[in-house]
Amino acid sequence: MYWKTENLRPQLGTKIVGSHVAQYDIIDSTNLEALRLAEAGMPAGTVVIARTQTEGRGRLGRRWQDLTGRCLLMTVLVEPPEPPGLITAMGALAVARALEGLELTPQIKWPNDVLIDGRKVAGVLAEGPTRGLVALGIGVNVSGRPEELRVDLRTPAAFLSDAADRAMSVREVAERVMRELDVALRRLQAGGAGPLVEQVRERDCLSGRRITIACGDERIEGEAVEWLDDGRLAVLTDSGEQLRLEAGEVTVL
Ligand code: BTN
Repeated sequence: MYWKTENLRPQLGTKIVGSHVAQYDIIDSTNLEALRLAEAGMPAGTVVIARTQTEGRGRLGRRWQDLTGRCLLMTVLVEPPEPPGLITAMGALAVARALEGLELTPQIKWPNDVLIDGRKVAGVLAEGPTRGLVALGIGVNVSGRPEELRVDLRTPAAFLSDAADRAMSVREVAERVMRELDVALRRLQAGGAGPLVEQVRERDCLSGRRITIACGDERIEGEAVEWLDDGRLAVLTDSGEQLRLEAGEVTVL
């Protein structure tokens, strides 16, 4: 591990993200480390990056696998937005916009996936808060092939290099994501949730699609309506019920 004690914000052109950067060759989870750093008093904008994780954390208690040095594994300490349910959307939007800057065409799948051509290239996991800060964890598959990952993902995995058919560097992706996250955080502070959610809706791949939702043992079928301003997903079930989902596993039929 080494600390980059200098402030990376001038280099990145950011105002919040990159105030401190802690880099590790190997760590249990950048989310866990970020929460430990928050506990130790590190401020919003602190970034934790690792080349590999031994206990990478995914949604719903799943593991997040990586290829050492070929995936972006990054967590940023952020002040929870209002409403707090938007934090994951903010992370997914930052990734999507970063990928658009690399001439890719990503979509966002509620609540936390970034897809290219229907395959998952990135996931977002917010944990905490600790001392008023949330660990916003972002994993992006940068350079590799899906077969190299052993995990059985419900949504098939993809890598940026494969999708773009050119070499990609983790550093390049990291810098773009940090800049876009900084933009999203500042827009949220300045203009509230509305403009941010609008940008998420523009990239949403579920609206109008028939879906099933797994909530524990229950399975519901219906149509995804839209991503709501508070981060929930509006769904019209086949039995005519209007749901506002906070969590769940969505599969497109
Ligand atoms: C998901 O799609 O299930 C969310 C995956 C989030 C993975 C990232 S990798 C960096 C950060 N550290 C973790 O342990 N998890 C997140």
